[in-house]
Amino acid sequence: MRLIKINSKNPEKDRIQKAADIIKNGGVVVFPTETVYGIGVNALNKKAVSKIFKIKGRPKGNPLIVHIAKKEDIFNLAKNIPKEADLLINKFWPGPLTLVLEKKKIIPDNVTAKSQTVALRMPQNKIALNLIVSAGVPMAAPSANISGRPSSTAAIHALSDFKEKVDLIIDGGRAKIGLESTVVDLTKTPFLILRKGAITKEGLEKVLGRKLFYYKKNKKEPLRSPGMAYRHYSPKAKLILAAGTLNEIKKKIKKSAEHYKKSGKKVGILASNKTKNFYKGDVILCLGSRKNLKIAAKNLFNYLRFLDKEGVDIILAESFPRTGIGTALMDRLSRAASKII
Ligand code: TXA
Ligand code: MG
Repeated sequence: MRLIKINSKNPEKDRIQKAADIIKNGGVVVFPTETVYGIGVNALNKKAVSKIFKIKGRPKGNPLIVHIAKKEDIFNLAKNIPKEADLLINKFWPGPLTLVLEKKKIIPDNVTAKSQTVALRMPQNKIALNLIVSAGVPMAAPSANISGRPSSTAAIHALSDFKEKVDLIIDGGRAKIGLESTVVDLTKTPFLILRKGAITKEGLEKVLGRKLFYYKKNKKEPLRSPGMAYRHYSPKAKLILAAGTLNEIKKKIKKSAEHYKKSGKKVGILASNKTKNFYKGDVILCLGSRKNLKIAAKNLFNYLRFLDKEGVDIILAESFPRTGIGTALMDRLSRAASKII
């Protein structure tokens, strides 16, 4: 395995070419996107795709997102595309929006976990775009983490999860957004948001001029969003999420921290700007301001991994307002949590 640095503003052509050659030859490359790092292969090479499931320990029933570098590439990969897709693509691509569409035959069935739909995304990160163009193929790429663990927002995270198991890791600096893309299913009406992300429901509704809905499990129907069924984003420590008003949150975390410390546990706390000095714990991290949630979103997975490295037993986390990217931030925190207090 090799690790190479590539400049995300002005990617070095020769280095991109090396990575692209690995993809063309059926190899596995970890690369940055603006959301999180991806572990990528040629999406049209079934054997290469199967390597990803093995390396990540990913359940075979969980389909992969296919990444493209040109908007018009969707016509090679998807069919019966509803006209509304155009509105979303023109507004949000390249960017953190994944669209689920009817798949064309060219896509191997292990990419889509045998589903007749495919998830497509055109990322914004220049390294990702240049890599896809140079490889000359679409790239199947889930988040670059062992299944169930927090996604990687930096090359070192992927390195610590995969070590020698991948052919190359590209270090392109920290992921700008830090949470995975919003996933929207356009194959049935009403359109459904399968996963929350930086592009919000309100942002999508404004462009579409109609209401969207969050997907909810329905016992009568097969799962529309297989990925959301699995335990996710989990640190090794037990994460406890404190809810309520800020005053209630502060009291709950302070009390729990005292309780766990008394019983000999190592306690980590995910606080915010104004509260970080209020708590006593072993490792206290400030996710960011409660007013600018973009910073907290960018820090979340990085800090969960950091707290694991510090060997804390318990993570006490504040809840954040569910506005803008706060909706996605709270989604990930709730899924990572073993308990909400
Ligand atoms: O931001 C992102 O989307 C990152 C970067 C690397 O692009 N990728 C990512 O991939 O988060 P992954 O595999 O960790 O999450 C993909 C999600 C899963 O919840 C999966 O179930 C869902 O997308 N998905 C993929 N194909 C689907 C399909 N055909 N129908 C419904 N959901 C699908
Ligand atoms: Mg993932």
